[in-house]
Amino acid sequence: MTAPAAQQRWPWWPLLPLYPYGRRRTLRRELIPGRLWSFEQLQGIWYVAVPIRMTVLRVREGLLLYAPVAPTGEVLAGLRQLEEQVGPVCTIVLPTASGLEHKLPLPALARAFPDAQVWVTPRQWSFPLPLPPAWLGFPAARTRVLLEEGVPHGDQLEWLPLGPLDLGLGTFMEIACFDRSSGSLLLTDALVAIPPEPPEVFELDPTPLLFHARERGDEPLDDDPRRRRRGWQRLVLFANYLRPRLLEVPPLAQVLRHCLAPGCRNPRSHFGFYPFRWLPGWQDDFLALVPGGQSRLQVAAVLERLVFPRQRQALVGWIGELAALETLRWVVPAHYEAPVACSAAAMASLADRIQASPWAPDQGPWQTLAGIDRTLVGLGVVPGEPIET
Ligand SMILES: [Fe+2]
Repeated sequence: MTAPAAQQRWPWWPLLPLYPYGRRRTLRRELIPGRLWSFEQLQGIWYVAVPIRMTVLRVREGLLLYAPVAPTGEVLAGLRQLEEQVGPVCTIVLPTASGLEHKLPLPALARAFPDAQVWVTPRQWSFPLPLPPAWLGFPAARTRVLLEEGVPHGDQLEWLPLGPLDLGLGTFMEIACFDRSSGSLLLTDALVAIPPEPPEVFELDPTPLLFHARERGDEPLDDDPRRRRRGWQRLVLFANYLRPRLLEVPPLAQVLRHCLAPGCRNPRSHFGFYPFRWLPGWQDDFLALVPGGQSRLQVAAVLERLVFPRQRQALVGWIGELAALETLRWVVPAHYEAPVACSAAAMASLADRIQASPWAPDQGPWQTLAGIDRTLVGLGVVPGEPIET
């Protein structure tokens, strides 16, 4: 059942003005019966929207919320329902130091659950101004720093930090949470599994898929499974590589000529403004991310090339720690697909694969990311020295 629009309002969207702005539809799914749930929304720029997920884990004392999403009326109603079934929200975890999209919803979510203990990853930072945690809206009296001031539910959960890693601009740090009882490993940004088909959350709003499925701006946003799939493949390429390799920006005069065509005179289709032309063969770069048409756990390209290009050893070391979780069964990242079936052996082979493959390359679809990285290194914004040991 679809919630009314008023229940999907997110008034704080101007803090991070991403699509779908002030209206966040939420898909709630039960990932492991009676144990693990996800609340999924879309977020992105210019209709390049990917799923963002808050994971809700049942612990002995009640519910733990991992990686907040915008707490709309719809999200809060869903959480209240779970509270009635399972127990109170007792713990809220911000598992990343840098991921703004996970950080900004925290204050409003914490206010909605005034009795919950809030735990945040160390080395929180803000850009462009370095603000103290209280200014970021974290409730000082009940906020603790993970690992530095202990961990929540340590008798049931294991907490495994990646980082801190120096990014120049700030610090990358992410803290994985392993639920021993269900074998579920909750992650934020470091690892993802990209599904071959559009995720279910797009059922609530397929507009981003349909917008990018087109070849020209004067095509209306028609809907069918083939278009949705094509739109998804293109969104993935945008989200991973920022500027896909086989994409041209046509001359402005040509773009403007396709504006205001019949069927496109509306804000939903940006009045026909569509400055993209996809070139033959573009699907190959998507298929490389989904080998054999199967999703598989991997480091997101934008992270590999811009966040970890000189930090492969730190990443491999962390994945090695995850591979020591003998009862690992599921991985639940905060983006793309979840849950992803996994095992300690599969995690170990991921570490081996990362170690053995070329890392953060410059060629092919990586050209744009590599160019950005070179520019940042050249400007001295990020450290250029390899820190591999
Ligand atoms: Fe994220």
